[in-house]
Amino acid sequence: MAFSFNFNISSEIKQNCTNEEDDNKDTANNQVDETSARKKVKEALEHRAAADLLSSIDHAVTETLTIGALPPLLYLNESVFEQTASERDDAEKVLSQTITQNSDLITGVYEGGLKIWEGTQDLLEYIDNEGKTFSGKRVLDLGCGAGLLGILALKRGASKVHFQDYNSTVIEQLTIPNVFLNSVEEGDDKNRGDEDCSPAPKRRSTEKTHALGDCCGFFSGDWVSFLSLIQSQDPTLRYDLIFTSETIYNTDYYPSLHDVFQKLLAEHGVVYLATKSHYFGVGGGLYLFESFVEGKNVFQIKSLRELDQGLKRHIVSLSFKKSPS
Ligand SMILES: C[S@@+](CC[C@H](N)C(=O)[O-])C[C@H]1O[C@@H](n2cnc3c(N)ncnc32)[C@H](O)[C@@H]1O
Repeated sequence: MAFSFNFNISSEIKQNCTNEEDDNKDTANNQVDETSARKKVKEALEHRAAADLLSSIDHAVTETLTIGALPPLLYLNESVFEQTASERDDAEKVLSQTITQNSDLITGVYEGGLKIWEGTQDLLEYIDNEGKTFSGKRVLDLGCGAGLLGILALKRGASKVHFQDYNSTVIEQLTIPNVFLNSVEEGDDKNRGDEDCSPAPKRRSTEKTHALGDCCGFFSGDWVSFLSLIQSQDPTLRYDLIFTSETIYNTDYYPSLHDVFQKLLAEHGVVYLATKSHYFGVGGGLYLFESFVEGKNVFQIKSLRELDQGLKRHIVSLSFKKSPS
């Protein structure tokens, strides 16, 4: 999608947003105002695949991302959203707003999930280099957008993958279709003759779709509300791994993001975070987030990789300093 790389900060919070009490503003940890994050709550929802999903993705224009030895990851072509915005069911109106405002991000309205950000690619490359697999792991792809990190976890053996994005439009129109696009049955080609050079038929059985549905969960909404929803569904659920790419650009969201990590990460679990050093025009970035986390004194942050191409990019991990109470 031909979005710009600028960040359009709108103070207007629309659609499903409820205003909570405007608490007195303390000078919270490390320049982060915890109360402002609490004002914006986009109600969390769990989503299921639409009944006509299989037929709709059979005609979709797709791309494939291939990184090293990782399995190829299929995803819907971004530019199609722009071209077909008027025909799509977009109750949040994020498609039309991103197009008219020509922006990748409209704070509190659209948080950038329709395009694939560099951090996702960086984290996939890191996973490839480290040869990581996820057998039996419970995984959360937090701020998933296209969902490629969660999809890889599924392909590499995860037992449960939850996908969360702020926008329901992103979950319904991009994440869920991408997960099902990647669910082509293993061995579809087994019975094809050597001479058969026609493109392999896309075969996604309904059973496979149900099976995937059983181990995946799809959620939209603000992190505050997402956390409440997950805890109300299963108070004991903890994720072994949380992947989160390009989600620390706004310091207002640090308290709720930290809360999700603290309440939903398993005792010996790991958060893998991909980020830029600094997000111009928004204000957040790795150094501010690190000092926020240090102020909370719950997690240790470890630098795993630095990429120095123009604006510095990083892969870091977070793990508990000690067992959560
Ligand atoms: C810049 S996009 C990155 C998308 C994707 N992870 C990638 O790397 O391509 C940031 C993502 O974080 C999520 N996000 C940001 N702030 C959020 C908040 N306060 N509550 C819930 N989700 C949020 C949005 O869903 C959005 O998709």
